[in-house]
Amino acid sequence: MPDPTMTLTESERDADLGLHQLKQLIGLVEYDASTDPFPVTGWDAIVFVVGNATQAAHYYQSVWGMELVAYSGPENGNRDHKAFVLKSGSIKFVLKGAVDPNSPLIAHHAKHGDGVVDIGLEVPDVDKCIAQAKRAGATVLAEPYEISDEFGTVRLAAIATYGETRHTLVQREIDGVRYAGPHVPGYLPRASSFVKREGAPKRLFQALDHVVGNVELGKMDDWVTFYNKVMGFVNMAEFVGDDIATDYSALMSKVVANGNHRVKFPLNEPAIAKKRSQIDEYLDFYAGPGAQHLALATNDILRTVDELRKEGVEFLDTPDAYYEDPELRARIGQVRVPVEELQKRKILVDRDEDGYLLQIFTKPLGDRPTVFFEVIERHGSLGFGKGNFKALFESIEREQDKRGNL
Ligand SMILES: [Fe+2]
Repeated sequence: MPDPTMTLTESERDADLGLHQLKQLIGLVEYDASTDPFPVTGWDAIVFVVGNATQAAHYYQSVWGMELVAYSGPENGNRDHKAFVLKSGSIKFVLKGAVDPNSPLIAHHAKHGDGVVDIGLEVPDVDKCIAQAKRAGATVLAEPYEISDEFGTVRLAAIATYGETRHTLVQREIDGVRYAGPHVPGYLPRASSFVKREGAPKRLFQALDHVVGNVELGKMDDWVTFYNKVMGFVNMAEFVGDDIATDYSALMSKVVANGNHRVKFPLNEPAIAKKRSQIDEYLDFYAGPGAQHLALATNDILRTVDELRKEGVEFLDTPDAYYEDPELRARIGQVRVPVEELQKRKILVDRDEDGYLLQIFTKPLGDRPTVFFEVIERHGSLGFGKGNFKALFESIEREQDKRGNL
């Protein structure tokens, strides 16, 4: 008997993902949504503001293998900005760039640079969520409202989270009728003039695993409480102090997740150490709290990393000593490929009581040392690579030092 709480979302069915695969890919778990005061189905779109959305849309297609599915811009009545909706598996990114010189996106971009403005969440009942958000004292940025077009109607609302980041809540099914358009009303279906290279895989990642938020010193617990109280998220894992301190910089991190674990938010704050934390560098250059990295889930990290490198994506380096460390070798045991294959690609590996994971981190995606991506392949582990934090942070510090920010 299939568990009734374990149903696939529309976007997952669209992407031909199966339940078993999702348990492995993103650590999906069973839970009872009927007692949840703020039920969250999963991710909706992740919205980026960028300096040049036209060019960024090309980059995400040509390098990250995403597919252009929808567009909004001056040609269909949106005179403020261009917005490109890109899809990979079950996840959508929206890239927005100002057209009108007076667009509010310009001030946002001038302050923060390229970054994530909106971590959209699909919910079955927007009004229930907003009522709960108000009871719990959250800042409601947009009361529930509906928009419609020829594809149907969606119901939306928005609440504030850290910095100038928001969660738009998207209800795609109203009275049993699901919105049939490619994104939300105002967006038109759009195919691309970009043609994938011959032999390129169908996609390089299938789902979004987690989005990490960087917040100010002393604020991490406030935001953990926010997600606990407002959204009913549960605490997953906790990394404090020595776990993630190198000789120079340090940070504290806690992780919250929604009931089914589709949505996972690690939250970081800087910790006091000998030199400036990588989180301080982020906070300086993003001009405040914001989304630090997005973890993209793949079932073949070797292929994904090979394809990305072929397109010039730069990853953080891992010294050979990491792979030659007998303690690490003993701890990770047997993984699906020889360690030499991981070493060749600088892929990190971590194991906990539930299984293991393979992961690698890109250098910052834009000009500022702020947002970056992680590529992750899970095999049972529901962790975040705690065992790699030291190696990872030393690698980040080497980059931070090159930038003169350590
Ligand atoms: Fe991560």
